[in-house]
Amino acid sequence: MTPNEQPLQNNPPIPQASASTRAAGHSRRAFLFKLSLLANGAVGAILAVPIIGYLLGPAMKKGSGYNSWIALGALSDFPEGETRLVDFRNPVTTSWDGQTGDIPCWVRRVSGSNFQVFAINCAHLGCPVRWFAQSKLFLCPCHGGAYYADGSRASGPPERGLFEYDHKIVDNTLMVKVGKMPTLANQASAELPLTQLEGTSSTAQLASVEKSKPRCASCQG
Ligand code: FES
Repeated sequence: MTPNEQPLQNNPPIPQASASTRAAGHSRRAFLFKLSLLANGAVGAILAVPIIGYLLGPAMKKGSGYNSWIALGALSDFPEGETRLVDFRNPVTTSWDGQTGDIPCWVRRVSGSNFQVFAINCAHLGCPVRWFAQSKLFLCPCHGGAYYADGSRASGPPERGLFEYDHKIVDNTLMVKVGKMPTLANQASAELPLTQLEGTSSTAQLASVEKSKPRCASCQG
């Protein structure tokens, strides 16, 4: 045995944690565990808010302005023969929507109580169309779509005319039905897409051409 080596029995005894120290450590772990559970619960609740809002939003919105009638203005605001841009406040909106809750539409007063209210969105990919009074055309800046004054398609990629809002006149006020965008899905009187119209007419033309073809004498039975 070298002088540096100590006999084993001379090592100091390892201190044992007292019962009170063990209890304190245990309660600290339990406290931290509960704290982490609480923090996880809080984070989960915060993350769940937008998801629940997204899931319940449509149901909550249905009762609040969905498909409601909104006043666009007095009849005197719309001179006969003119088309004007009018904004209305979307009834299905939240207070933090800001200006995005203002929906523009084109109002055309043909004459007297004969109106058309067009959605501003192009029927192709939804860009806002503009009215050019001199040419009497709605023009789309995105791909050159053009519509006549009555909203029907004039040229370009759109396959149909502009979508129209339902409207009515109450007490000399023009009202529109809002809450959702007018589309083919909710426009009962939607016209057929141009491709179908063209297909239909060309088929009919073909049939009439076939009918009018002179038949050779040997072919006739
Ligand atoms: Fe209007 Fe394409 S979005 S022509």
